[in-house]
Amino acid sequence: MSKQDSHFITVFSLVIGTLATVAIVIFVIARYVGAHTQEREVLSETEYIHQVRRNVAPFEEEAVAGQSNADLAIAPAAGAANGGGLSMPTTGKQLFEQTCSACHGPGIAGAPKAGDKAAWAPHLAKGLATLYDHALHGFHGSTGVMPAKGGRPNLPDAVVERAVNYMVSLVDPQMVKGKPK
Ligand code: HEC
Repeated sequence: MSKQDSHFITVFSLVIGTLATVAIVIFVIARYVGAHTQEREVLSETEYIHQVRRNVAPFEEEAVAGQSNADLAIAPAAGAANGGGLSMPTTGKQLFEQTCSACHGPGIAGAPKAGDKAAWAPHLAKGLATLYDHALHGFHGSTGVMPAKGGRPNLPDAVVERAVNYMVSLVDPQMVKGKPK
């Protein structure tokens, strides 16, 4: 082998060696990053499913109206306290806790959050009569869709109006002074 040849082989193996090392380092980094992002995805997927279940809870109730299905109905928050299934509410607060709070509690899906004055201000400006009308018959506004009666068509109108009064009372008690809650 000539001197030139052996020089070439030395340089060549050095280059190959460096490339191999770089490839291994990149592989390790990719595994590391992958392991971390993978974990996050699994978590957010669970959260996502949880959110969807909360969102559809009121409609789920609509689908089984007239039947009690305590194990299927995902009663939002305090609704679970009275036996799991949704009993017919009589006060606005009860209805809020059973149904309206699914969206208005955390303020999700574009719903004005209960107790959040700033979020409610543009709604209050429409006046109580419009708020009743939209709560009873549904409303497609600029931030989302308010389902008629929160997705429970078998609710008495008066109780839905009380739930509106209740939520309004949290941000502007004066507006619903003397009204049933
Ligand atoms: C599935 C989610 C969801 C549920 C359940 C829900 N709401 Fe809403 N609600 C919304 C959304 C979204 C808006 C905002 C619509 C907009 O302004 O774009 C809204 C708006 C409202 C408004 C303001 C309407 C207006 O004209 O500005 C009232 C009042 C209201 N809801 C009452 C209720 C009551 C009472 C219940 C329970 C019986 C209830 N909501 C349950 C999603 C929901």
